[in-house]
Amino acid sequence: MNQVLDTKAPAADTKSAAVATTAKGNAPSEAFWMPFTAARQFRRAPRMVAKARGMFYWTPEGREILDAAAGLWCVNAGHSRPKIVKAIAEQAAELDFAPPFNFANPKAFELADKLVKLAPAGLNRVFFCNSGSEAADTAMKMAIAYHRARGEGTRTRLIGRERGYHGVNFGGISVGGMVGNRKTFGPMLGGVDHLRHTHDLARNAYSRGVPEHGAELADDLERMVALHDASSIAAVIIEPMAGSTGVLPPPKGYLQRLRSICDKHGILLIFDEVITGFGRLGSPFAATHFGVTPDLLTAAKGITNGCVPMGAVIAKQQIQDVFMNGPEHVPEFAHGYTYSAHPLACAASLATLETYADEGLLTRAAKVAPAFEAAVHSLKGSRHVIDIRNIGLVGAIELESIPGAPGKRGFDAMVACWDKGMMVRTTGDTIALSPPLIVEDSHIDRIIDTLKGVLKTLA
Ligand SMILES: Cc1ncc(COP(=O)(O)O)c(C=O)c1O
Repeated sequence: MNQVLDTKAPAADTKSAAVATTAKGNAPSEAFWMPFTAARQFRRAPRMVAKARGMFYWTPEGREILDAAAGLWCVNAGHSRPKIVKAIAEQAAELDFAPPFNFANPKAFELADKLVKLAPAGLNRVFFCNSGSEAADTAMKMAIAYHRARGEGTRTRLIGRERGYHGVNFGGISVGGMVGNRKTFGPMLGGVDHLRHTHDLARNAYSRGVPEHGAELADDLERMVALHDASSIAAVIIEPMAGSTGVLPPPKGYLQRLRSICDKHGILLIFDEVITGFGRLGSPFAATHFGVTPDLLTAAKGITNGCVPMGAVIAKQQIQDVFMNGPEHVPEFAHGYTYSAHPLACAASLATLETYADEGLLTRAAKVAPAFEAAVHSLKGSRHVIDIRNIGLVGAIELESIPGAPGKRGFDAMVACWDKGMMVRTTGDTIALSPPLIVEDSHIDRIIDTLKGVLKTLA
């Protein structure tokens, strides 16, 4: 792997990158309404990054921050990779925008072909969008429209799962199961139901890889069929490994069981691979990793190494085929975004896939996983820790909640890690680790040492 150039410190102009005021006590502008951020706390102590390379960020003041989160589960090849940077710059100069409705840019076709080669066999039609949220909503619309196009228009019901995360659009939060993301937004989509989640500390605490217990939870789908009838159900959408809810690898056999129940009842299975796509578990997709092929698969994040927004739905050809009728001047699927297959995103993605291939990154997590697993589980016994989970290059350290203040200890852990020069993602009281796939032993050691220090100091 040629990482040497990418992981060294940036040129000495780091400080000049400090465009916004960022020093502690010097609060940034209030004009920016920040997403999913405790904004009042942030203004008091901003966590600003101004430069990135390889495994690291740098603050505007030049402080080095180890990236243990791949940005936000997306920078799989590490930051500012030269091939990707060059491709974006060249593309912007060559073709800045191409309307995607009734016109196209050749790189979109090239990229679709490349993605199909990486995807599980049988998934060979790619629809582009701009984010994971859009990919989830697109896949759900495809499922409902597919059933209608083949004459089963009663199949409109969508089944999600408790603790699921499928982005923030109305479709995604409707099938999603994270209460904090749902409770403030009214009734959402009708005709949705949820399988039970698979988190089971009593039976599975401190599992390494997939937990032993819980395959039977897939039978919840039979309960939904008994309640609603299969003829009303279009699709089930789940994350093969739930990430945003705090890292929940699927119980052994769960995905296989869900697949066979879907098949039995003619229900489409959608895997949301926004986090697991592009090598996170040690295979190009979780579907490949677990040997279970969905009918529709969503991707985003690592598709461009996080450099340019892009999402995609990869579908089985049979699904697209049923749309191919009606007058030829009418779009067969009335859906799309102004920025679908944006030339910059396509160029970034093609260069990203090349970088992944050049360096074997889509399978590297499988090689690093044993050392990463041992390192993460060495935190067992640290203060507040009630569970540790891992799979591929994903780790989770679940902390006991402070009574009456769920999420507070997790939040404090994130802030304390930042103060010690490390970026982690926390969700509730779970610290999630998902370093770039170029992570080396020395980085893993530093991640664990930092966490050990932080866990000692947390109230
Ligand atoms: C499984 C899953 N689906 C969808 C999304 C939403 O993606 P985006 O934030 O790009 O809309 C995420 C984001 O973390 C995700 O983890």
